[in-house]
Amino acid sequence: MADTRLQIVVGKGGVGKSTVAAALALERAARGGRVLALELGGSGGLARALGVESSSDPVKTSQAAPPGEVYVASVDGEAALSEYLALLVPVRRLLRGVMATRFYKAFVGAAPGLRELMAVGKVWYECQKTNDDGSPTWTTVIVEAGATGHSLRYLRMPEVAARTFASGLVHREAVRVGDMLRDPDYCRVHVVALPEQMPLSEAREVLVALDEELGMELGRLIVNRCRQAAPPAAERLSGELATVASSGPDGCLATVLADLAARELSWLAIQERGLERIERDSGRRVLRLPLLVVEEFGPAELGRLAGVLAGEPGVNAGGAVSP
Ligand SMILES: Nc1ncnc2c1ncn2[C@@H]1O[C@H](COP(=O)(O)OP(=O)(O)O)[C@@H](O)[C@H]1O
Ligand SMILES: [Mg+2]
Repeated sequence: MADTRLQIVVGKGGVGKSTVAAALALERAARGGRVLALELGGSGGLARALGVESSSDPVKTSQAAPPGEVYVASVDGEAALSEYLALLVPVRRLLRGVMATRFYKAFVGAAPGLRELMAVGKVWYECQKTNDDGSPTWTTVIVEAGATGHSLRYLRMPEVAARTFASGLVHREAVRVGDMLRDPDYCRVHVVALPEQMPLSEAREVLVALDEELGMELGRLIVNRCRQAAPPAAERLSGELATVASSGPDGCLATVLADLAARELSWLAIQERGLERIERDSGRRVLRLPLLVVEEFGPAELGRLAGVLAGEPGVNAGGAVSP
């Protein structure tokens, strides 16, 4: 696993970005890391997954195995902007004055992506933070970056800002942040998808954008909620079951089972075709996370996914069932 300082999780809404970011953080902490998990402009899903209140100040979760630690914080671009301005204009009264002006409001409203730039700037700041002895404050910073269109907006912003402002402070900041994002030894992007056509083709677009436009390095291509493979004889048995069912009355055991088996095998076929295709098109291996059938997804489930991310058997490439 690419163990870079900064790991950014992107993907369509609902595919499991918060879940994956949380599992990655726990997995890193299980190896003794001090991890910061940041959610950029989201709805607090990452904090929920790790069982803490969403807050802009890092809050420690009790789910990490000691001595590892995981802290969670949310980053709001607008708050990051005022925090940053406070560094530039240290006199509070003056700052409040500036921020109350119509000019400031118009500026923040009009400057494209200023909030996103500030949010990514905050990520940069946390990555660079050091303890008194000079060691990095965080072993790893894991970032969940909004829904896909949105995540790429964050990742594009440094480049856009560096071009928009040809020189000066904003230019320098943007270049610095952009350099960090494009350094493959420092930063990797994990793309999360579901084993269905739409999310997979969107993931494919993200892979192309990372490679051709953003110049950022892929960490893992993760497909979440994968179904377990059927046993080898399933197709044949399902066919035989259908034959038996066709001679029985509606609603008898054989008809119900034949119907369930046919449906499950169809879903599996869709999944396998989709995964084969994205692996072929992208030349990358998919890391499968299993669909966990539970009413309430909790720490135990998160732990299982963290285990799979750590390389423990889950739903492996051939689709074999985990022990
Ligand atoms: N592998 C999985 N199996 C079962 N449920 C899952 C799995 N991964 C995520 N979920 C559930 O799916 C929902 C959406 O996940 P979430 O991580 O919040 O998505 P996102 O951050 O991409 O919007 C959550 O309720 C989560 O608990
Ligand atoms: Mg989320």
